[in-house]
Amino acid sequence: MNIGIIIFSKTGNTLSVAEKLRDTLLSKGHQVLLDKVTASNDIEMDPGKIMLTNSPSTQDYDMIIFAAPVYGGRLPSAMQVYLHGLHSLEGKLVAGFVTQAFPFPSWGGNQTIRVLDNLVRSKGSKLSATGVINWTFPRKRKALIAETVEKIAALSA
Ligand SMILES: Cc1cc2nc3c(=O)[nH]c(=O)nc-3n(C[C@H](O)[C@H](O)[C@H](O)COP(=O)(O)O)c2cc1C
Repeated sequence: MNIGIIIFSKTGNTLSVAEKLRDTLLSKGHQVLLDKVTASNDIEMDPGKIMLTNSPSTQDYDMIIFAAPVYGGRLPSAMQVYLHGLHSLEGKLVAGFVTQAFPFPSWGGNQTIRVLDNLVRSKGSKLSATGVINWTFPRKRKALIAETVEKIAALSA
């Protein structure tokens, strides 16, 4: 499959998980590109004020994984604006994960995944696999990363 991993990552946590996922998918024989959504004012909370500086195309991919941190219990504005601006995702296999500092998915992570799923649904697809990675405790983090990578990679058959 031709797979795109499209992320927003400010301090590298989400990026490090995306890199593990990329390596796993490459080892399964897929073509994989990891690309970043960027904005010049990327911690701006008001989506109306976001100025995107990189908006990766999704056109060439059979499968796309979107990933981002949780910001204020929500999807970062840069990722919201990027997803709003996408063309149709119809016919594409889509997955998503988020990373967060708080220790439980119910503290904003699940909610952020729901926002991501709604945005993907508004473009004609849905999240077929998801993960929330709670970052603070190393042992828990490691287990959640392994579980998320395995779940999403399993979709790629
Ligand atoms: C502006 C801002 C808001 C954040 N809000 C939350 C939050 O509401 N809940 C949470 O668990 N973590 C929050 N965090 C922590 C990040 O979600 C967490 O550190 C994440 O793993 C960072 O990902 P990154 O390294 O890919 O940027 C926030 C961080 C920043 C910078």
